Amino acid sequence: SWTTSNVVEESVEAVRARVGSKKVICALSGGVDSAVAAALVQKAVGSQLTCVFVDHGLLRKGEAEQVEKDFVAATGVQLKVVDAQERFLTALAGVADPEQKRKIIGREFIRVFEQASREVVEEAGATGEPVEFLVQGTLYPDVVESGGGTGTANIKSHHNVGGLPEDMQFQLVEPLRRLFKDEVRMVGLELGLPPEIVWRQPFPGPGLGIRIVGEVTRERLELLREADAIARAELSAAGLDRDIWQCPVVLLADVRSVGVQGDGRTYGHPVVLRPVSSEDAMTADWSRVPYDVLAKISTRITNEVADVNRVVLDVTSKPPGTIEWE
Ligand code: XMP
Repeated sequence: SWTTSNVVEESVEAVRARVGSKKVICALSGGVDSAVAAALVQKAVGSQLTCVFVDHGLLRKGEAEQVEKDFVAATGVQLKVVDAQERFLTALAGVADPEQKRKIIGREFIRVFEQASREVVEEAGATGEPVEFLVQGTLYPDVVESGGGTGTANIKSHHNVGGLPEDMQFQLVEPLRRLFKDEVRMVGLELGLPPEIVWRQPFPGPGLGIRIVGEVTRERLELLREADAIARAELSAAGLDRDIWQCPVVLLADVRSVGVQGDGRTYGHPVVLRPVSSEDAMTADWSRVPYDVLAKISTRITNEVADVNRVVLDVTSKPPGTIEWE
């Protein structure tokens, strides 16, 4: 019968049988799937697993720390962190086109991950057992969508971009292949992962990079990160986390709006709140968030985030509007 502890036990056994004494590598994104997959593999083969976390500087407030501190504390996993914030900012300089941003972020991610994997492979080589496996947080719906085959290494959960180069072919370990999202969350809880990781709402691989309409700069990222943290905190405090599928907060960096704050007029930027309810992100409806919650978010953002003088609510369903603005 299906119980979470059975699933964990069986998956752990299966991973052990498959991997043997070989080494394993896993990319952590900050998302639920890669975290749960890594935690399962860690439980199965312990220090044979090395996780790589590429900090591209496009995560939300506190999320890099969640991976670097909380996830490590909860699992004891061996983690290699690559601080690539500068590199991503440089690569994104001057770019406003959304698809261009996605391409750049995906490309840089793969390059940085490749380099880090090479280092892990070399370090492991010196100690004997080679790295032969790559963990992926593929879920059952992903398997169905892609026709059921096991492909070559493909960092799908991150950026939907292609595989690693020829000389770095890993075998895939996909311990979540039979599970749906809600089951993955149960497994994550069973494995002792922090609730903030287990209940994290969907977040795009390119991160805040596609939530700044206009060029991505360090200053704009800082503004957006603050505004987003306020919206998340207030929606959580109002108990709305489970009703809302996700709530992108979008900085209209190329739009300026006039405001009056303190003694004078300001010429700042609007942010858009995009809370949606959905089952699978294919269609969505705008969430009817209570006015008092919206009021609180608006007041706090305009008071606390310099340069943001207006908060706007997106009341478009999908279709016709996508969930993200870019
Ligand atoms: P849209 O905006 O197309 O989004 O309605 C549907 C879902 O996909 C997420 N999304 C992405 N996820 N890379 C990702 O990994 C992307 O480039 C990307 N674009 C959108 C979005 O957050 C929503 O959950």
